[in-house]
Amino acid sequence: MQKIAIVGAGSMAEAFISGILEKELIDRKNVWVTNNANQERLSQVQERYGIQATYDLNALFDGAEIVMLAMKPKDAGTAIDYIGGHLTESMLIVSVLAGVSMDTIEALAEKPLAIARAMPNTSAAVGKSATAIAVNERVTDHQIETARKLFESVGLTSFVEEDQLDAVTGLSGSGPAYIYYLIEAMENSAAEIGLEKQMAKQLIVQTLIGAAEMVKNSAKPPEQLRREVTSPGGTTEAGVRVLEEHGVKQAFVSCIKAATAQSRRLGAALSSKLTVEKR
Ligand SMILES: NC(=O)c1ccc[n+]([C@@H]2O[C@H](COP(=O)([O-])OP(=O)(O)OC[C@H]3O[C@@H](n4cnc5c(N)ncnc54)[C@H](OP(=O)(O)O)[C@@H]3O)[C@@H](O)[C@H]2O)c1
Repeated sequence: MQKIAIVGAGSMAEAFISGILEKELIDRKNVWVTNNANQERLSQVQERYGIQATYDLNALFDGAEIVMLAMKPKDAGTAIDYIGGHLTESMLIVSVLAGVSMDTIEALAEKPLAIARAMPNTSAAVGKSATAIAVNERVTDHQIETARKLFESVGLTSFVEEDQLDAVTGLSGSGPAYIYYLIEAMENSAAEIGLEKQMAKQLIVQTLIGAAEMVKNSAKPPEQLRREVTSPGGTTEAGVRVLEEHGVKQAFVSCIKAATAQSRRLGAALSSKLTVEKR
């Protein structure tokens, strides 16, 4: 990669800066970042990673091969309006803005752009994001590879059509929070059955990692793995029966459907708000 200009210096931007430098995808002198006004935070990121930070848009965008949009979705209108004049059709615009469509980004910039729109998740901070990426028709094969490498630096990637990104948001975008919720429940139960908090946390985390590795590495579907550890009359069966009685599996299905529908609603409202504000 030649030069990346990152607009926004928050947690997602930092995850990417850390990921691409760790994977040695780019020289740190070619990583440029800006934010809205928080100079202290900008200097902190600059010093922590030895990258370039600036509020000078010419310095930021001159020669940039990739531009990453990493502000909050609500700030996209102001930000893209401000930088739009510096964006060109030859740049790869990488957006992690939840709910902001590629058409909306082009409308805000008032020009056609090559856009890769992605939905990473918070585990990008530890290099374990599950990210889905959609690209528009202007993105070249070379740019698709660039986008893949960029997101692989913070975890696993898949390519999808843009209209699937709401489902991705409901499943893996919000997914870490569902797993945190499960951990909370397991921690609460550990307290109730008399296990020491720190030790219980270690057991729970390792159980999750181990189960995830089993599912990842085994050819068997999770249902089969579960049945194989559930002996008739045993402890697992007694536990799982309670989950079934409470409809926990169906609750997860409903949870993911509700999150997907909310992503669709919020995205539509946001895109029309940003477009109306632009007029
Ligand atoms: N965090 C996640 O787990 C996650 C997951 C999936 C997708 N995303 C997406 O990632 C994006 C960033 O999220 P985040 O959690 O990193 O947010 P964040 O920590 O709040 O950072 C937002 C950054 O955007 C900057 N900014 C705001 N307005 C700007 C402008 N007009 N020009 C330039 N920079 C501007 C802010 O600068 P100041 O500090 O100066 O205001 C700040 O550096 C969001 O669109 C979100 O949808 C995040």
